[in-house]
Amino acid sequence: MSSVRQMHNIALIGFMGTGKSSVGRLLADHLHFNFLDTDELIESRTKKSVSDIFAGEGEAAFRQYEQQLVIELATRKRTVMSTGGGLGANEANLSSLKEHALVVCLWASPEKIWERVRSQTHRPLLKEADPLAKIRQLLTTREPYYKQADVLLNTELRSLKEVAAQVIHQFHLARSQRR
Ligand code: S3P
Repeated sequence: MSSVRQMHNIALIGFMGTGKSSVGRLLADHLHFNFLDTDELIESRTKKSVSDIFAGEGEAAFRQYEQQLVIELATRKRTVMSTGGGLGANEANLSSLKEHALVVCLWASPEKIWERVRSQTHRPLLKEADPLAKIRQLLTTREPYYKQADVLLNTELRSLKEVAAQVIHQFHLARSQRR
């Protein structure tokens, strides 16, 4: 990585249900940036849902689609990137994002995450007998990666608008401090 960080973009990482897509759209609107969601891009390119990729090709194939996409993201400018929950839990993906983006991790407790996602059915990793236990286990494994984000924001006690305002503040700060 070069010594001068480029901050063309904002990349939101973090667990499912932490509000990455909703906050990402608010940020893009406010900053007049483009918005992209890595799950949506993978779905439109493969013409398959994330669930179908997991079921038909396996999780490893999905992770490869993610890694390939992350490499391509390095050419983007003025873009807010909302990433799938597993994408930021990978060393290579993280360091690639840090080449061009402020990396912001949205955080919440396992209980809060479960409360937010329990009525949704599109997440293959949570199709488990005990989804809360699975969330706890995945969060524990991913925490060391998520904590490498430039900014870590707890979303539990903040509205989406407040989270977005914090991210914008940190983005302006990071850009003004670049040397
Ligand atoms: C995943 C999170 C999902 C999606 C896939 C795997 C994960 O994205 O990429 O189901 O490994 O945590 P969201 O975080 O947008 O739900």
